[in-house]
Amino acid sequence: MRFTMHPPIAVCLAAVVIAGAVAAAPAMAKEPEPIGPKLTPRLQQMLSEEMLSVRQAAKQILDGLIVGDHSLVATQAQQVHDSFILARALTEQDKKDLMKAAPPEFLKLDGEFHMTAKKLSEAALHKDYELQRFYYSRLVDSCQTCHSQFATSKFPAFSGAQPEGHSH
Ligand code: HEC
Repeated sequence: MRFTMHPPIAVCLAAVVIAGAVAAAPAMAKEPEPIGPKLTPRLQQMLSEEMLSVRQAAKQILDGLIVGDHSLVATQAQQVHDSFILARALTEQDKKDLMKAAPPEFLKLDGEFHMTAKKLSEAALHKDYELQRFYYSRLVDSCQTCHSQFATSKFPAFSGAQPEGHSH
């Protein structure tokens, strides 16, 4: 198992931002807005690439789950965790741009999402297929929760759906 060498930058950023947001709590009560249109073209491109590769990995993971291919699940889930584009190749300028566009809740969801991928990968390494199912469903939860809040311009079908994305 390989742990990514670079700490997920968005997670670090999230910690900073959340600390700031606690001070400015009312700002968090705002309706979530689509984040895509607020990103620089460069960040948009990076996010889009990450999402397409995440989708590909999610499909492969499902294939692996269905046939009990633990190593496929482990590899692909680890890849989702590592393909943390927000952490991968961000320049200082990107980070500033991201901070301008991304609210704390978005960064938090992104951090949770990649953490879930990591747990899924570990469950697969332990050949624990029940736990794999559990974390896979959490992963899908993350896609929907984030998209329904922050990607409604890309996925307008979520508009007007229940804003409460957490299912517990
Ligand atoms: C933390 C937020 C977040 C999570 C979690 C997330 N996404 Fe996304 N995703 C986005 C945003 C924001 C966009 C839209 C960007 C835009 O407006 O262009 C997006 C767009 C996409 C796209 C369209 C990409 C394109 O350019 O055509 C795909 C496919 C996608 N996501 C797949 C997934 C899958 C599959 C998962 C879960 C396994 C997932 N995403 C989890 C935020 C997220």
